[in-house]
Amino acid sequence: MKTINIGLLGCGTVGTGVVRLLLTNEVKHTQYAQAKMDVKRILVSDSAKKRDPVIRPELLTTNPDDILEDPSIDIVVEVMGGTGLAREYILRALRAGKNVVTANKDLMAQEGEELFREAARYDVDLLFEASVAGGIPIIGPLKNSLAGNRITKVMGIINGTTNFILTKMYEDGSEFEDVLKLSQELGYAETDPTADIEGWDAGRKIAILASIAFNTRVTFKDVYMEGITRISSLDIEYAKKLNCTIKLVGRASERDGQVEARVHPVLLSLSHPLAKVDGVYNAVYVEGDAVGDVMFQGPGAGEMPTASAVVGDILSVARNEIKGVTPRENCSCYDRKEILTIDRTVDKYFIRMTVVDRPGVLSQISGVFGQKDVSIDSLIQTKHSEGSAELALITDDVIDANLRSALDEIQHLEPVMAVSSVIRVEKDS
Ligand code: NAP
Ligand code: HSE
Repeated sequence: MKTINIGLLGCGTVGTGVVRLLLTNEVKHTQYAQAKMDVKRILVSDSAKKRDPVIRPELLTTNPDDILEDPSIDIVVEVMGGTGLAREYILRALRAGKNVVTANKDLMAQEGEELFREAARYDVDLLFEASVAGGIPIIGPLKNSLAGNRITKVMGIINGTTNFILTKMYEDGSEFEDVLKLSQELGYAETDPTADIEGWDAGRKIAILASIAFNTRVTFKDVYMEGITRISSLDIEYAKKLNCTIKLVGRASERDGQVEARVHPVLLSLSHPLAKVDGVYNAVYVEGDAVGDVMFQGPGAGEMPTASAVVGDILSVARNEIKGVTPRENCSCYDRKEILTIDRTVDKYFIRMTVVDRPGVLSQISGVFGQKDVSIDSLIQTKHSEGSAELALITDDVIDANLRSALDEIQHLEPVMAVSSVIRVEKDS
């Protein structure tokens, strides 16, 4: 029986899981690929570090050439992260005729085009299922099982940290900062949580999903991103009154040949399938013209779920190697579509503001909205004892630029004390 030699770049959370899974289900993998999977070498930055006993110390190296220049290595698995050295090593691997499996969303969302070009030039596979939503199969299904559809929308809860925080805020009525601190203590949020809470992590993932769903290159810089740092317990209270929850979603859609990709919090009706996805769980909801709506749900990160996606890719490549059919999947961005900037997008909005409680204030505010073509769907007014009132309103569908221009003016009106929240409302809710 042939052996498929694997070189791992990185052996942290995901790398250790990959080694563990290859050992645990070795017999099944051998039957599936008709070859034995052998992890031949593992690149790390510190070979003296204490590691899980599943990692054989003699496999460790700090020299990338031990993998990239070893002609017997068939598959390079990049699970070290980052965009500098990871890019360089992947390019070297592809140019040496090696197949590559990666979990690196940062790199794929930024440099996917270049990496795919080189994979095609050297006739090798480049698979990246683990780069979006960890253990949830979504890239393979979008590229293969749903290829017969014209996809109109992909929307997902694709960041576990922020979903955990928003779920806890919804359940306990607690404030963002307190739940963030708790999430860090529990190990759900990173010491530096910026990429998660500002929506950058989800931005990378939606760039990848949009590129595949709409067959056009969407990179990280094309994605509009807004995080969850300004969501308060009061916003959640209003969401509850409206039979909604608040979720951070990555959302990409195509209409009339124009693509939009964004990440921001939304008020989501409790009847929406994504509203029930709680805690660190992820889910991706896809609309296709033939299939209708489908939802993929599961663990979006973690050692073994992410290893599940990486090992699935390894086995696909291994099977291709054995059958002599590479590359299995080319880049699917064969179109060039316009990417809509956020100012041209259309949404319903929830807006919360504090105003001086006296006659004529409401008409002043609605006058500005009217001039800017922003129509109000509904309004709740709550009087405070100190002579102020809170206005919570929902708009009809409005153009983003019109709303921003109206709010710029409104927040400078003398009786407006603060515009505290501006949150989109998911239209299909
Ligand atoms: P990690 O735990 O920080 O592990 C990184 C590994 O890469 C470590 O083994 C480290 O070596 C090695 N490494 C880093 N820089 C290196 C360098 N310059 N030279 C040699 N080795 C180097 O990271 P991870 O959580 O496993 O994530 C790996 C990748 O998977 C990232 O792209 C991440 O975005 C992606 N991903 C992670 C998850 C998840 O749940 N963790 C989910 C989906 C995707 P040492 O061990 O010596 O420090
Ligand atoms: N930081 C990510 C999350 C996991 O919270 O979902 C890795 O993609």
